[in-house]
This record gives sequence, C-alpha cells and structure tokens, in this order.
Amino acid sequence: KKVVLAYSGGLDTSVIVRWLQDTYACEVVTFTADIGQGEEVEPARAKAEALGVKEIYIEDLREEFVRDYVFPMFRANTIYEGEYLLGTSIARPLIAKRLIEIANETGADAISHGATGKGNDQVRFELGAYALKPGVKVIAPWREWDLTSREKLMQYCEERNIPVDFSNKKKKSPYSMDANLLHISYEGGVLEEPWAEAEDDMWRWSVSPEEAPDQATYLELTYEKGDIVAINGEAMSPATVLETLNKIGGANGVGRLDIVENRFVGMKSRGCYETPGGTIMLKAHRAIESITLDREVAHLKDALMPRYAEMIYNGFWWSEERKMMQQMIDYSQRHVNGDVRVKLYKGAVSVVGRRSADSLFDESIATFEDDAGSYNQKDAEGFIKLNALRMRIAASKGRNLLD
Ligand code: ARG
Ligand code: SIN
Repeated sequence: KKVVLAYSGGLDTSVIVRWLQDTYACEVVTFTADIGQGEEVEPARAKAEALGVKEIYIEDLREEFVRDYVFPMFRANTIYEGEYLLGTSIARPLIAKRLIEIANETGADAISHGATGKGNDQVRFELGAYALKPGVKVIAPWREWDLTSREKLMQYCEERNIPVDFSNKKKKSPYSMDANLLHISYEGGVLEEPWAEAEDDMWRWSVSPEEAPDQATYLELTYEKGDIVAINGEAMSPATVLETLNKIGGANGVGRLDIVENRFVGMKSRGCYETPGGTIMLKAHRAIESITLDREVAHLKDALMPRYAEMIYNGFWWSEERKMMQQMIDYSQRHVNGDVRVKLYKGAVSVVGRRSADSLFDESIATFEDDAGSYNQKDAEGFIKLNALRMRIAASKGRNLLD
C-alpha cells in the first residue's frame, strides 16, 4: 500500500500526508514540482521528512511545462469562454503524468491530491491519472474527510503534532490561489460576490494599468513554427520566454482578467487571473499567423479552437480527440515563422508590425495604387454575380429578402 501525493509543502497538503498515513496505514511518497509558481520547492523536503516521508520527489518542470504544454496550447490561440487563458488547466496534465510515472517507479498503487470535490482540478488530475494508469486508486481527501474548515485543520495538526508552520498562516491570503509560469489565479473570499470589484492589493504579478509607465514599451518577438524562440533578437528557452514576457507585461499592467466562468462540474465560479506573458503571446501569435496562414486554415482553426479549449479546461489533455486536434494544429504551424513587433502601454497590447520570409502577404496584389500584378479587377464582376446568384433567383421568384 503506497500512495503518491501531489505535495505543495503547505498546510493543507501537509495535513493530507498525516491523514493518509493514519486513515489508510500506507506509505506516502511526496511529489513537489517547480512549474514557476514563484515559491521555493526545496523547503518541501524538510517538511516531508518531518512527517516521516521516505521517498521525496522534488523536480524543476518549468521547461517541460512551457515547451510541451503551454506552447502547444498557444499554437491554437486557445481561450476558454472567450476570456480565460487556461493557466491552471494546462498545468494539471503534467502533474498527473508525473504522479503516475512516480507511482510506477516506486511501486505505488494509488495517487492523491489536495483539490476539493467542487472544482475542476480534481477532474483534471484524475482523468489524467486514469488515462495513464487505468487501474490506479485515487484518494481525494477533501471528498472524504470532515476537516472542512481551517480551524478543524489546525486542530487536527495540534492533536497529532503535525509540524506545520503556523506563523506562515497569518500571512495566508484570503483567496484560493494557484500559480505557475503561465498565470496566477484568485478565487473565493470576497470574490464570491460577482458584483464586488477585486481590491487592488490582491493582484501580485502586475501593476494596475493606471500606475503603469507613461512611456510605451516595444518588443520584438521571433517565431519558429508557431513558437516564440527569441525576444528582441535574443534566443531564449521556452520557460525564459514566458518568464521574460511576464515581467515586462506585468510592469505595463498587461493581463489582468476578472470573469465568471462555467466549471465542468456544473457551477458558475468567479475568478481573477493575471496572465501577462500569455496575453502578449496570444495577440502576437495571431499577428504572425495573419501573414503566414492560408485563410481557410486560419478560419478552420478558429472554428475548432473553442472545442480544443474545452478539452483542456475539462481535463481531457490525454484523450484521443485532443491529440488528434494537436496534430492538426501543429501541422498548420509549418510556415508560422517571422517577427512580430508589439507595443505595451497601460494594460494594452497592440501589434504594430509583422514580417516573415514565409509571408503570404503580396503588396503588388493588395496595393490601392496602380495595379500591375496578377489581380484583374474585371474578374471581380463575375465572382460577385455568381455569389449573388442564389439570392437573385430567390428575389426574382418573389421572395422578400428583407424578412
Ligand atoms: N478556475 C480556474 C480553472 O478551473 C482556476 C482554478 C484554480 N485552482 C486552484 N486550485 N486554486 O482552471
Ligand atoms: C479546487 O476546488 O480545488 C480549486 C478550484 C477548481 O479546481 O476549480
């Protein structure tokens, strides 16, 4: 009996370690990953040791996270319900994958996580786990125990001498937060009233647009096959690209979002998000595609994108349908190369230039000046007449096309 736990080192997951040991009399393996949440992961080692954990996994997954999850998702210009850049959603399949790999390495038959029974995260962790290890046992303490408040959690710690750092607790944020290289999210607390504006000191990654510099910041982003490979001419790894854009975007008030979204489990939930780098990437990627993609390819991608977003939001990253769509999206990116120039100013991202050796933009065809190119304006007459044919027939048969 052995269980691998997604362990943050915080109060909740520390209680889970002891609760698993007590309730299931099992060996607990902890797994803590740096995916860019901005907190040290190494302290989780001493905390796990103090709880009697013998197998402790601590890993830096930042590059893998951006290269194999964030970038592939951005190739599709993915947004959920028109707004949400899926910062939490896209990190879960990676955590699920590592939980299962570690279970296989350590001979564990179960995995566990600290997500509640009301959210999306439980679904994402568990769909991922079942897809990669069909017989795995899942233990979700929040669905089982009765430690439903912070007070009960702390009492549980005191009774059992669980060494958690209570001094930390005072500084504990009133929000349920989740952070990684793509975003930081806030839910719960005063945000549960959708009419109430978030307090300004909630936001951690960005200045408010009002306080952003009066001077615009320009960036040049270089694309290869749909991914950013350099910023201002300097080649960078995927994680460094995102980290750099987060910093510059945040300093210019870019990427704040306040929405009510539909969770997969059926409820509506109010959430606030900061996604500075992602907001820049989405805008810039559309710009490089605007000169390198065929029209029908671009429109088809756009039509299918909401389905792809739903697959990721709902936790079906490892499903056949999502992998099938990924192949199609990746194929479309073969010629998505070149540079985009963006301007950041008080929360806004504006594209001001785009160029590519693979550009389909043809100045000699598009020009309003004397046309000498292969576009003959006389051809347009028949093009329009045949496109109008159905409507002309209907009108001539007495149909009123105004109704
Ligand atoms: N509502 C967002 C989502 O479903 C964010 C979830 C945040 N998760 C968390 N454990 N605080 O993707
Ligand atoms: C949770 O319920 O654990 C966080 C919110 C979510 O997963 O949607």
